[in-house]
Amino acid sequence: MSALELYSLKTELLHAIAEAADLAKLEEVRIAALGRKGRIPELMQALGSLPPEERKAYGQVVNSLKTAVGEALEARRAELSKAATVEKIALERADVTLPVRLGPLAEGRIHPVSQVTDEITEIFADMGFSIAEGPDIETDFNNFTALNIPPEHPARQDHDTFYFPEAPDGSRAVLRTHTSPVQIRTMLKEKPPLRIIAPGRVYRCDSDQTHTPMFHQVEGLVIDEATHLGHLKWVLEEFCKAFFEVPQVKMRFRASHFPFTEPSMEVDIGYAKVGDEMRIGEGDAWLEILGCGMVHPNVLKNVGLDPSRYQGFAFGLGIDRIAMLKYGMPDLRAFFAGDLRWLTHYGFPPLAIPTLAGGLS
Ligand code: PHE
Repeated sequence: MSALELYSLKTELLHAIAEAADLAKLEEVRIAALGRKGRIPELMQALGSLPPEERKAYGQVVNSLKTAVGEALEARRAELSKAATVEKIALERADVTLPVRLGPLAEGRIHPVSQVTDEITEIFADMGFSIAEGPDIETDFNNFTALNIPPEHPARQDHDTFYFPEAPDGSRAVLRTHTSPVQIRTMLKEKPPLRIIAPGRVYRCDSDQTHTPMFHQVEGLVIDEATHLGHLKWVLEEFCKAFFEVPQVKMRFRASHFPFTEPSMEVDIGYAKVGDEMRIGEGDAWLEILGCGMVHPNVLKNVGLDPSRYQGFAFGLGIDRIAMLKYGMPDLRAFFAGDLRWLTHYGFPPLAIPTLAGGLS
């Protein structure tokens, strides 16, 4: 190849390098020039067929061509990859106007049942009650017999009890049908004066719009030497005013019957239905929220207390019911359906801890 041809090859290759528009094109140019079957290796092969005296000079020229092309390729590659990076950054720029995704503390919600349980315990704690607990799986004795509901008593049928299979000793555990067995546990463990509340889950084989097989109650128990019905009424009225955050509530005490209290009452709370909303303290609609009464002397005897010295009152309040009333949630079944949309709507921010000083809701 003549010097002129070599020169024009060099011009051609350098031109192609300068013209390569992107890294892929540049790679094509590199392969055509320096690849195994490229133009420059081809020139090197021709070296062998030259007369020995020309080889050195020819070799030097081809080598310097190779160096020049290599350097031009490198320079262009640097240029192109910098441009590619700039372009990529421009494309990937974060859109700062996009809404921020909230963290778990801002997005998580406390279930209304948990929140209302906290509100209730806050109110009773302020009145000097302490919190007692018992297990969901109870003995037949604590759930029924000790509460003056002996075997064969018709009240057992009312409770739609979930029974466990019979144990070898003939006893049958139950899913507690009310929180009243915590009365028994407390009286067996501690001596009067007693002032406790016991919130928790209870179970009955029952399911429709206003009944779910699992629901929540708060039990209250006061045992002392001079406790009477007036105390019971006062405690419940004060509780309702504090809970519903109204100066006055309409309450109706209806004579009723529970084997473990005498006398027994059921308490309804007055409300008005305004559209979808339930307004507490007005109107003439009634919703039953609790059962109560003076602890039956037989119950006191069953736990070894002397009824001629001690007496007291007890009440059992449906947590889910009063949660529905206070926060206007119309369907009880939605409480336990686990629908995130419902929880987002009715749930409470985790740091909204109810206190009497700070406001319950
Ligand atoms: N245990 C009763 C029930 O579940 C409620 C109650 C509790 C009634 C305490 C009186 C005293 O229906």
